Amino acid sequence: MRLIRLMGALAALTLAAPALAQSAAPVMASSPDGTVSVAVTIDGDGRAAYAVSRKGTAILAPSKLGFLFTDVVKLDRRIEVTGQELRDFDETWTQPWGEWTTIRNHYREFKVHFRETTAMARVFSVTFRIYNDGVGFRYEFPDQPNMRHTNIAEELTEFAFASDGTAWWKPAFLWNREEYLYNKTALSAVANADTPITIKLADGTHVALHEAALVDYSGMAVARTEGNTLRAALHPGAGEAKVRKHGAWNSPWRTLIIADDAAGIYMSHLMLNLNEPNKLGDVSYIKPGKFAGVWWNMIKGEWSWARGPKHGATNENVKRYIDFAAANGIPHLLVEGWNVGWDGDWFGNGHDMDFAKPTEDFDVKMLVAYAKKKGVRLIGHHETGGAASHYEKQFDKSFKFAADHGYMVVKTGYVTDAGQMEREDADGKKYREWHQGQWMVNHQLRVVQVAARYKIGIDSHEPVKGTGLHRTYPNWVAREGMRGMEYNAWGGKNPPEHEANVVFTRMLEGPMDFTPGILSLKGERDSDILSTIAKQLALYVVIYSPVQMVADTPENYAKYPAPMKFIRDVPTDWSETRVLNGEIGDYVTIVRKQRGAEDWFLGAVGDEEARTVSFKLDFLTPGKKYVAEVYRDGEDADYRTTKRHSIVIEQRAVTSTGEMTLRLAPGGGAAVRFRLVK
Ligand code: NOJ
Ligand code: CA
Repeated sequence: MRLIRLMGALAALTLAAPALAQSAAPVMASSPDGTVSVAVTIDGDGRAAYAVSRKGTAILAPSKLGFLFTDVVKLDRRIEVTGQELRDFDETWTQPWGEWTTIRNHYREFKVHFRETTAMARVFSVTFRIYNDGVGFRYEFPDQPNMRHTNIAEELTEFAFASDGTAWWKPAFLWNREEYLYNKTALSAVANADTPITIKLADGTHVALHEAALVDYSGMAVARTEGNTLRAALHPGAGEAKVRKHGAWNSPWRTLIIADDAAGIYMSHLMLNLNEPNKLGDVSYIKPGKFAGVWWNMIKGEWSWARGPKHGATNENVKRYIDFAAANGIPHLLVEGWNVGWDGDWFGNGHDMDFAKPTEDFDVKMLVAYAKKKGVRLIGHHETGGAASHYEKQFDKSFKFAADHGYMVVKTGYVTDAGQMEREDADGKKYREWHQGQWMVNHQLRVVQVAARYKIGIDSHEPVKGTGLHRTYPNWVAREGMRGMEYNAWGGKNPPEHEANVVFTRMLEGPMDFTPGILSLKGERDSDILSTIAKQLALYVVIYSPVQMVADTPENYAKYPAPMKFIRDVPTDWSETRVLNGEIGDYVTIVRKQRGAEDWFLGAVGDEEARTVSFKLDFLTPGKKYVAEVYRDGEDADYRTTKRHSIVIEQRAVTSTGEMTLRLAPGGGAAVRFRLVK
């Protein structure tokens, strides 16, 4: 379904040169229903700025636009506005998989043209797409004699918040990439932060600052300058310039989602809408589903990726895991450590990795045939150890190997410290790149494009952050880019509030391969995970991914047959999603409707405090009867005690006129399947 309504009358209001003097009509526009407005101003020094307001209240005070370059004078002062254009757009499009089947893209586009009044006379435009729930804007530079080659040292783009607030953010530019816990501080105390950063302003308005369609550019972090002002801080690369461009170019969209509350932030489609439509055509080869994995025992240190006495990916182990997947209707099995190359120092040194050469104890032909008989497909794993160019050299043989063995997805990995990614150019020269720098942004897209040629999906670990590109490349099914479940295997575990933080921050990027479902609640050396068992079930609904791991071991799942039923039942593809309630870092309740079916699934997670959540069931179809299969924390459940496994599983008859109250234990959660009675 593709319904485009370009409102002709408004479509092209163009005020062309001569330049609008400062005294001329204001340069401003509003969203389709008038909620969000953008105004562009030029100050006495000729500095261009934009301001954003919502319902008449300032969100961003005038915030500067501009660039520093490594080789020519900055673009900052002595700028004039030479024109503005308005265009309305309203379209509804369909996602091949996702949290919603259809998405409305309704905005007013406001394009402002600028020119330098100096001899350089550089020209550019800033295009704002103003939505009722936020705004995205990007710089657009035409090809021009004074900008044939552009070497960007830094963007001067500011986000000058008009009031202080509370910010949830994780640090940028540190060695462990995007794998840090979220800080909760005053906005006026933010340091270097990666995006998305989510802010609750003093009046309760919520704002999420991020970027969309990050292509051939470096990732944008933000750094606080003074007061409540954040400024773009681009991720570095190996070269002097953080971004290099030739001829005409656009920046990614700088985005602000603005809503009354945390739930409203999650419900926005602005990120996806600012990306271009599907460029791959038919992606029916991507079938959302769950996967088991020869994995958790490696993460816990009981098995090894490397060959030897502890090797995990042996024929015997893999066959046992295939049996487990088949018995539980799980269509995929990830196997790590299956290939030659792990035996040395793979961590940060992936030169030995060969993604077409299995180890001698992994008989790929036999295993693929065994799995096929049981309705299971293997998922491939390409851990590069950061040797990104070495990976590129074997792209074709690696993806041919995966396709020849019927894999739907390949999980990639870039385990090395920030700034230590290895690039090798055609002339043999080596460079150290950053995970979010321009070169790696391009590398990650090259992986997705080569995978698409082989009809394979990509789940990237240690990735570039998500910016909605899975709309354009729907084979980019998931990524990591935060502290997932693996941190619960090790010391310094994720605290109970982690998931209630990430729903309203990291999850705005798109699908996350979080690897939920550790029902044993045990990490390495029998250490306790800071969760209840009901919360592990809730994560299947709360943390979205079209490919969702059933991450614990078959032996552990055998101990919990009753809760395991929810994992068997829960799907990974949805026609509708609603956030029923939530406060960042405290709790959240999400319901989702199974795609192509009538059942709804609910997940609620809390933090370290016990609380109750109540909500109406008006998402259910009126006049229909449902059985709510409830998996909730037992009365004595508590993540701090041996009662973390205490769970109550019960059934309740419900309809759309009812309400439900669920008690979440400390560190707890709840999961519900609303099964339609036929
Ligand atoms: C880190 C990834 O997050 C994890 O899933 C993977 O098993 C290891 N790297 C090894 O590649
Ligand atoms: Ca909290």
